[in-house]
Amino acid sequence: MKQENKSVHGVWGSRWVFILAATGSAVGLGNIWRFPYITGENGGGAFVLLYLLCIAVVGIPIMTAEVMLGRKGGLSPINTMRKLASESKVTQRWAGIGILGALSAFLILSFYSAVASWALYYTWEAARGAFDGITATQSEAHFDTMLANPWLMLGFHSLFMLLTMVVVARGVKGGLEKAVQVLMPLLFVLLLVLVGYATTTPGFSDAMNFLFAFDFSKLTGKAVLVAVGQAFFTLSLGMGAIMAYGAYMPREVTDQKTGKKKPISILSTVAIVAILDTLVALGAGMAMFPLLFSGGLEVGQGPGMMFVTLPLAFGNIPGGVLFGSLFFLLVVCAAWSSSISLGEPVVAWLVEKGLTRVKAAILVGLGAWLLGVGSVLSFNVWEDNTFLAGTFFDNMEFLSTTVMLPLGGLLIAIFAGWVMKETQARKELGIKNFKLYLVWRALVRIFSPAAVIALFVYSIWSAVA
Ligand code: PHE
Ligand code: NA
Repeated sequence: MKQENKSVHGVWGSRWVFILAATGSAVGLGNIWRFPYITGENGGGAFVLLYLLCIAVVGIPIMTAEVMLGRKGGLSPINTMRKLASESKVTQRWAGIGILGALSAFLILSFYSAVASWALYYTWEAARGAFDGITATQSEAHFDTMLANPWLMLGFHSLFMLLTMVVVARGVKGGLEKAVQVLMPLLFVLLLVLVGYATTTPGFSDAMNFLFAFDFSKLTGKAVLVAVGQAFFTLSLGMGAIMAYGAYMPREVTDQKTGKKKPISILSTVAIVAILDTLVALGAGMAMFPLLFSGGLEVGQGPGMMFVTLPLAFGNIPGGVLFGSLFFLLVVCAAWSSSISLGEPVVAWLVEKGLTRVKAAILVGLGAWLLGVGSVLSFNVWEDNTFLAGTFFDNMEFLSTTVMLPLGGLLIAIFAGWVMKETQARKELGIKNFKLYLVWRALVRIFSPAAVIALFVYSIWSAVA
């Protein structure tokens, strides 16, 4: 397959490679670590339903818009927005989408690396048999002991940031393409094994009830906000990661048999990524909640949920040492392919400014690492220093995920739906089905922005009142 080449940063080998890369970005800690624990904190079923709704009516349309803008511009998000703004004859301030995105990237990358480092440590712990026959209380204690050790965590945080920046420094295409092709399918399989084990535990039906029985009386305003934020976070939206990856997406492929050029439809490509991402999140929930209920653990575990529940599974299944270390390793890899996409937009922009890729990666890596130290210390030394949303870590997570990503997404939707010329957007999208196109357009113009604005207004109002 051959395709027209345009971005200075390179082009994905095919549509399939784009799907893999975007899935690599999307599937990560957001699915396996964050989704289960915020579901636990926000009451279960109704929250899950709301989350799914947000994926469908806000996430997929905005993801489509983001890929479309990226492919049209072919540059890093900041310069893509500059280019599209001048093409649409509007103010260069629209490049602010890229700048806001760069800021979000720093914030997310910093705490993302801190959490990924827990998984790195747990890979080692699983491999040395530390979870053998572990009980629920022991598992909690094990996690707390890890958190209480800032030096250990700093070491793994540094290692993870280094791993991320090595790939970004080499250019995203080379290593990433190959890695995700093997790792993603393997992650799916192991998750299925875990869900299989969870079905045999006594807490399984309680867990299914918790996850899928919709009790709307449990739903709070904050839960709605968190669900929207999670939809953005899990699909990597609102900060330019998907825009940057879209810039490396080919416009058409030449079918080798017929020699005809076929356009690549963005919408159907995006839908595949969103579905895969959702399956992983639901799978993670179905693997972990039964263990919580079986072990008599608290549902609102918070950020430690995955690290408390999974050792219970691995400590009690045959081959648990092998499966356990493999699974945590895969979580690390999933987090790795996501953090790479967090670094890429900023690094690509610095490269366009004339820096070498290596220098740019070092700069971004150091900045995010430094900020990440704050998150590492939030679980020990700074544990009691709380302000606004909680610890330093809580604030980083809340600000980026619940405020900045939805804001970035809102601006992206407005640009794609209102500012850009309709004919251009339509051509770039390549949706053949006109009705489907109209649905997308209505969602991006009216529904998604309205949903995000309503949420902001509501949360400001409830914060003030
Ligand atoms: N989507 C990733 C996850 O679910 C996190 C991420 C957010 C990655 C934003 C890139 C950009 O883990
Ligand atoms: Na995700």
